[in-house]
Amino acid sequence: MSIYYHEEEQIFHIQAQEMSYIIKLVEGYPLHAYWGAKLRNDNNLSKLVNLHYLGDRLNLDRLSQEYPQYGSGDFRNPAYQVQLEDGSRITELVYRSHRISAGKPSLPGLPSVYVETPSEAETLELELEDVYSGLIVVLRYSVFANSDAIARSVNFVNKGKQSLRLQRALSASVDLPTADYEMIHLSGAWIREGHVQRRPLAPGATSIESRRGASGHQTNPFMLIVGLNTNEDHGEAYGLSLVFSGDFVARAEVDPFQTTRVSIGINPFDFSWLLAPGESFQTPEAIMVYSSHGIGQLSRTYHHLYRTRLVRGVHRDRARPILVNNWEATYFNFKAEKIEAIALAGAELGIELFVLDDGWFGKRNDDTTSLGDWIVDHNKLPDGLTDLANRVKRLGLQFGLWVEPEMVSPDSDLYRNHPDWCLHVEGRRRTEARTQLVLDYSRQDVRDYIFEALSTIFTEVPISYIKWDMNRNMTEIGSASIPPERQSEVAYRNVLGLYELLERLTTKFPHILFESCSSGGGRFDPGMLYYMPQTWTSDNSDAVERLKIQYGTSLIYPVSTMGAHVSAVPNHQVGRNTPLKTRGDVAMSGNFGYELDLTQFNEEEKEIVKAQVAQYKDIRSLVQQGDLYRLLSPFVGNETAWMFVSEDQSDVLVFYFKVLAEPNAPQKRLRLKGLCPQYNYQVVGTEEIFGGDRLMAVGLDLPNLHGDYVSTTFKLKKV
Ligand code: DGJ
Repeated sequence: MSIYYHEEEQIFHIQAQEMSYIIKLVEGYPLHAYWGAKLRNDNNLSKLVNLHYLGDRLNLDRLSQEYPQYGSGDFRNPAYQVQLEDGSRITELVYRSHRISAGKPSLPGLPSVYVETPSEAETLELELEDVYSGLIVVLRYSVFANSDAIARSVNFVNKGKQSLRLQRALSASVDLPTADYEMIHLSGAWIREGHVQRRPLAPGATSIESRRGASGHQTNPFMLIVGLNTNEDHGEAYGLSLVFSGDFVARAEVDPFQTTRVSIGINPFDFSWLLAPGESFQTPEAIMVYSSHGIGQLSRTYHHLYRTRLVRGVHRDRARPILVNNWEATYFNFKAEKIEAIALAGAELGIELFVLDDGWFGKRNDDTTSLGDWIVDHNKLPDGLTDLANRVKRLGLQFGLWVEPEMVSPDSDLYRNHPDWCLHVEGRRRTEARTQLVLDYSRQDVRDYIFEALSTIFTEVPISYIKWDMNRNMTEIGSASIPPERQSEVAYRNVLGLYELLERLTTKFPHILFESCSSGGGRFDPGMLYYMPQTWTSDNSDAVERLKIQYGTSLIYPVSTMGAHVSAVPNHQVGRNTPLKTRGDVAMSGNFGYELDLTQFNEEEKEIVKAQVAQYKDIRSLVQQGDLYRLLSPFVGNETAWMFVSEDQSDVLVFYFKVLAEPNAPQKRLRLKGLCPQYNYQVVGTEEIFGGDRLMAVGLDLPNLHGDYVSTTFKLKKV
């Protein structure tokens, strides 16, 4: 890793392990010169930007830009736009200075990847200026010692005398040299998250975005741009991922000259930010990853970076507990005895954590009431929450609790006392969803109230884990405490407010393991992972549906961030009956747990669960810390397979799933990946030993599994 400045040629060369990223200044304009496979620094890098056809004047529309402006001849989508007090929207950024330093600065008030020592990264800050308005724009790039990733963000500073209005402030924009690409992203809906979409680019723009106030089930804030022949193991792949939990846009725009502008950042739709003289605005961070060895390698780069340098706190490297959650077992209908019975059954089976889900507070017997009133319901838990938690702890389990602190029910004391504490526009309807409204987290008083209410519970009750839920998106986005000229900042300020509250809570309660949830995976994004090491991947716990959801989510997010539970059959979301073994194998491919009434299991089922719990304890470090290789895609055929390999390539775990039975099926072999060709591996539990080379070239014999929805696992060990 290094960042070089070639003064004579006015070139910045950001060099990672196997990747280069190059910027060139031409007449002070920052032009994008290159992003791709690593180039030697002693190369002739000066001709990377093709200027030969340009006349006397720079034709910005024909040049690859580093941070494109609006209004001076480049007609593609700009990366930023600023309105001056005279109403004009033209600015022109030219080079002012730069700084290259060791380490990586954190972004005040925003989540970001981090370093533990300055030697882990190097940072380039490129300062640009619009002389006319006094706007300073600092483009920041951090490159890491052991990762083909660049963290990129932008800081706007108003050093002029007039107010400026930021109308657009993307985090990254890159002009790629051809249009021969396809775009891959995740799409979906509630209980159908993480579905992989792949489509060719064509002239015009292809974009994904959110306008919900959260990243959303529908899209995820990242996109991959890949070569036409790129697959899991071969070809070029470019990733852009936004460390942000609110409205975003990711766009690939093919221009008439067959170049592609890719960009990502805050969605400019319904966003603007007033920058008074002396004020600054920091964009969220985009993480750009390049791989010349296919999508699998790109995923592993993201996994490693996010697992080790985005997720924070004591739980980052700790084994995540096996839990049992009562939601699908009881929904709102429970009493203390039932909870204790489930916890006791869990303890007998080796489970480590009990999670009390929704319904323990206020008068919450259904989803129409009490959000905001974080007071225990003594009808359900007569001896209180602390007593219940202590009883669960005496059984040998940790105690976890569900909360939904960003919301308020109209039927709550909180709302009756503070009707102006929710997002709303005076005189307009307040749209309810799940009979709830969104608290206005742009307000300090609201955040302080929630901080105190939660702190009281987290202090009094011996809590080890919090499931932080968020079950609706923003409507009537307005705040009673913000002046009219700043109302289009409200959605963004709400996300900043959430981050501030989470920072305070996670700092005050570092021992608590937080799991984020938004009706499942409605806010599964890197921003939330900075505060909460894991996310509930989907409310869909059907084993077959989960193959797609978990496979898709793994394109970018590490397995250690994905909550995955065994639930009852017929499955509550789709009505499917799948074997307990298959449900276990799917859930064991993530952060393992159960979400059903364990007291209903017969002895035979309990034995299976006991064995699954023991198996997961045995494989847990490999699943949570190992490298993931995807072998067969559920989006392609009837079979799915993935595997985990330890860092030293000694331990291997393979999962294979078959959805529908195949009559008279051919004998199948599964080619493995990521092994050391020189090592010999024993299939644990058998006498069979194979070379790593053979397992990757020929494969592992698969048994002829009988029936629908079946699965098998293999453990291999270096001998
Ligand atoms: C939505 C979550 O995704 C579920 O797991 C559950 O916690 C419910 N909310 C509770 O209301």
